[in-house]
Amino acid sequence: MSATIISGKEVASSLREEIKKEVNSISITPGLAVILVGDNPASRSYVKGKEKASKEVGIYSELKELSSDISEKELLDIVDYYNEKPSIHGILVQLPLPGHISEKKVIEHISPEKDVDGFHPINIGRMMTGKDAFLPCTPYGILQMLKYKNIQTEGKHAVVVGRSNIVGKPVGQLLLNENATVTYCHSRTPDLASFTSKADILIAAAGRAEFIDAAYVKEGAVVIDVGMNRKDDGKLCGDVAFEDVKEKASFITPVPGGVGPMTITMLLYNTLQSAKKHAE
Ligand code: GUN
Repeated sequence: MSATIISGKEVASSLREEIKKEVNSISITPGLAVILVGDNPASRSYVKGKEKASKEVGIYSELKELSSDISEKELLDIVDYYNEKPSIHGILVQLPLPGHISEKKVIEHISPEKDVDGFHPINIGRMMTGKDAFLPCTPYGILQMLKYKNIQTEGKHAVVVGRSNIVGKPVGQLLLNENATVTYCHSRTPDLASFTSKADILIAAAGRAEFIDAAYVKEGAVVIDVGMNRKDDGKLCGDVAFEDVKEKASFITPVPGGVGPMTITMLLYNTLQSAKKHAE
């Protein structure tokens, strides 16, 4: 039996409609500051996507483009400017940053109350203790996809492949918060398939093109592919060998058109939540 495909486009568009309605119903315009340092083409393309999506739901977005040789101090001053600016409710500094700037310092400089990426240690701590936090957008988006398809997490065994701060670690934590039993695997895990083949929910977030094939997957598993890799022919692909795995899984996300559209959607959602709090 072939798996049901979870279309991130469909889930994102349904959530964005709800966000748009709510943006129109509140007394203030949510504002998002997006800071782009340097001219990395992938970062530029992500940032353009974020700007376009913001406009579509009625969020004001302000793009600050900075030269790659800006000093760390200058960047921190710009973050401060947006920390203080009342019309801005969310601040996003697109990563990666040039090598001479400490990403950690910059992230920690963003006010936790405007950290709509959910990267600040205060928000990570709040997420871990289950308290009111901005949740990181990709993991939060994955949770929304599972909810949209009524996929149960409670009591399920979730296996996460990858331990990045942006995806792997937080998605495991969110699934734990939702009462799943969570196993983390990574590049030093021996016999990876012995873990992944026990997963009811398998999250592939390792950044290796199409390496999860059917041998890694339990019959009927839910497979979420967070990979975003380029093949030799330039085409985008995930961490999962989609055609092979879709014959064994019960649900699967494609690449592109799976998790990707959810990341921006949850950024819009977080910005709206921040604006609502500031309006209280
Ligand atoms: N670079 C890649 N993904 C992200 C993201 O979600 N947020 C930011 N700020 N930078 C990124």
